[in-house]
Amino acid sequence: MCGIAGYVGPKNAVDVVFDQLKRLEYRGYDSAGIAYLQDDKIAVTKRAGKLSELGKVLFESPKQAELAIAHSRWATHGGPTDENAHPHYDQYERVAIIHNGIIENYLELKEHLIAKGHKFKSQTDTEVAAHVIGEEYANGVSLEEAVRLSAKRLRGAFALVVMSNTEKDKIVCTRNASPLVLGMGVGENLLASDIPALLPYTREVVIVEEHVVAVLTREGISLIDAEGRSLPVKTTHIDWDIASAERGGFEHFMLKEVHEQPQVMRQVVAGRIDEKSKIRLEGIFGENVWNEIDRVNIIACGTAYHAGLMGKHFFESVLRLPTDVYYSSEFRYGDPVLSPKSLAIFVSQSGETADTLAALKLCKDRRIRTLGIVNVIGSSIARECDRTIFTQAGPEISVASTKAYTAQVMVFALLGLYIAQVQEVPGVKVEEWADELLQMDGFAEQCLKLEDEIVTLAGEIKDMPLCFFLGRGADAFVAAEGALKLKEIAYIPTQEYPAGEMKHGPLALITKDVVSIFGATDPRIREKVVSNMKEVQARSGKVIAIVTEDDTLTEQAADHVVRIPKTKFEFLNALLAIVPLQLLSYHIARLNGCEIDQPRNLAKSVTVE
Ligand code: F6R
Repeated sequence: MCGIAGYVGPKNAVDVVFDQLKRLEYRGYDSAGIAYLQDDKIAVTKRAGKLSELGKVLFESPKQAELAIAHSRWATHGGPTDENAHPHYDQYERVAIIHNGIIENYLELKEHLIAKGHKFKSQTDTEVAAHVIGEEYANGVSLEEAVRLSAKRLRGAFALVVMSNTEKDKIVCTRNASPLVLGMGVGENLLASDIPALLPYTREVVIVEEHVVAVLTREGISLIDAEGRSLPVKTTHIDWDIASAERGGFEHFMLKEVHEQPQVMRQVVAGRIDEKSKIRLEGIFGENVWNEIDRVNIIACGTAYHAGLMGKHFFESVLRLPTDVYYSSEFRYGDPVLSPKSLAIFVSQSGETADTLAALKLCKDRRIRTLGIVNVIGSSIARECDRTIFTQAGPEISVASTKAYTAQVMVFALLGLYIAQVQEVPGVKVEEWADELLQMDGFAEQCLKLEDEIVTLAGEIKDMPLCFFLGRGADAFVAAEGALKLKEIAYIPTQEYPAGEMKHGPLALITKDVVSIFGATDPRIREKVVSNMKEVQARSGKVIAIVTEDDTLTEQAADHVVRIPKTKFEFLNALLAIVPLQLLSYHIARLNGCEIDQPRNLAKSVTVE
């Protein structure tokens, strides 16, 4: 999510790490900072806002250092302020750290440290990690040992980079889940969260495996495993150009973001499901409020609206909580009837969509409780809502939304389960759901393995004149998102429908070239969907079915069956079906030579009405 940079060598380290951060700017960030050695102290300069803000203060006077670390932050815990920006010191200002990811158990650790007299200056989980490392370091061990021992105390996804004011020649780093790469130079070494920030300096890269601690000095790089044993250092030569390196080697940001979904699914639940499989959602309304709410209105645009449809499905089918979903543009001028006990939920990746923001203002004027489900911290919708849950999906660069959608739907499931937990809704097995949510990343990985099959399928249907996306229940809502993806990036006319509705008119459009993609991931109503598939086949239309791996019914009625993993809950099966649909849209668009990351006529953030 965030940008990480580090350098040790003969060049001016301050200039090098600043340049590295610039090379990571395309990812988006909200604050930045740098740490370098000045005599026996670690100097830290950090600012909210763009790198130019940091540059203004940093380069007020010339800086010279042989070792520096730097960070561009995408806020997760605590807003985008100077104090929350990285680097962070430990209690004794002997170490400074930067961090990418989420420390799930930071609250527990913080309480323990406060009890020991530690004082914190920020709201971040990173500062807590800094204090943990500082505590280990104060026992007189080496910096790498302090980092190795601290990493065992941290839970979550993290890439940590640490420097100290006593071992002045080294940078130490480690990772779990979050990315971290090292660059091996001649008489100099570097590190970064992403390869583009290394390429101007070296093309010899060391990929840091999970739980490995790396030590960088001018002379070399050494690695130790979680038990402190030394490991061999293997380099990989990178011959990507800078542009493809920014996309992590993927041809487009959209494909990179589709492939990031397993990691996003981990990030969404990080710190929100505890060891007892209970849901922990911080900073939302108190329990009394959840017991009072009589109705939910979900308000959003585009893909976020489709995530809202899934939210409605969850709230109504699992909680029996009446829920409506509105397009923001309709809601704001629709003079909606709103119960004073209702909750309005605003879903937005960017947090800046003009219609959603206007709908939010309308609710606030009417004194309705408002809750945001937002990706960008510090955005207008996040600031204006009474409470906000962040999707923690990281910056989404491709105009077509993919990972933000899965994160939004996962947040709806978490929120629904939280409400069930508070209200003790009979029959809702919160722990079972929570355990399944924790496994969604693995299921999503399996869906991504379908890519070769999807490429072949894309080649077979890429010239279709029209594509229907059909399903029943949650599959119908996912169909709507599948249809939007294909039309916006491949410019193929699409139409979503509940499968049972086809015979009431749309069947008239079926010809041999028209493709109908059915979601049939719910075994309880699969037979009904198969009947609808047969209706299409009987009119010589082409049928593709997306089913769970155990299905035996659809083969007879489909030209092609795509099998995804089966989870314990139909709702989650349906969510997983979006992954092959995203891949299908992407590969059709690619085969047809479309401009994938910036489709014609569309913008990433729609800040005008
Ligand atoms: C489609 C897409 C758009 C957005 C919509 C809302 O792929 O990206 O439909 O979902 O413009 O944007 P946010 O979520 O930023 O409010």
